[in-house]
Amino acid sequence: MSGLDDIDIVRLVQAALTSSTLAYAPYSGFHVGAALLFADGAVVSAANVENASYGLSLCAEANAVAKAMNEGRRSGLIALAVVGGKPDADGEVAPGPEPVMPCGRCRQMLHELAALGVTDPEVITVARGSLLRMPLSALLPHAFGPANLA
Ligand code: THU
Repeated sequence: MSGLDDIDIVRLVQAALTSSTLAYAPYSGFHVGAALLFADGAVVSAANVENASYGLSLCAEANAVAKAMNEGRRSGLIALAVVGGKPDADGEVAPGPEPVMPCGRCRQMLHELAALGVTDPEVITVARGSLLRMPLSALLPHAFGPANLA
């Protein structure tokens, strides 16, 4: 597991929370923010974006990966934070009792970016009053990735 210090974790969770206020989730009402931390200290974050054709909705983590890659990032992903829940009247998300776990598709998308830079980022998910931390490889063991196509 990476040697993240508390300040990185607070910064990352705060960035995910801030992003969650920009979620477009009128159908589920579930607002998610994801923040990716890179080795150069940069944080790239995004929220979920839903669609009236429900199945086209995009998760926060997928949007964050696409955003980072569109900024030219291909390596250095060392950690990410995910926060989700129902927004209050001010649009602030209050995390629920269970941490939000990245869905299968997002795990695969995160793996692609991690594999390009040969990192195993720490995934931090937030619940009410607690954090869960684990390496991405624990969430997607024996992943299919770029190496399989070589
Ligand atoms: N969602 C995310 O953005 N990330 C996750 O890790 C889980 C689910 C979104 C998809 C959909 O917009 C809403 O949460 C409810 O599933």
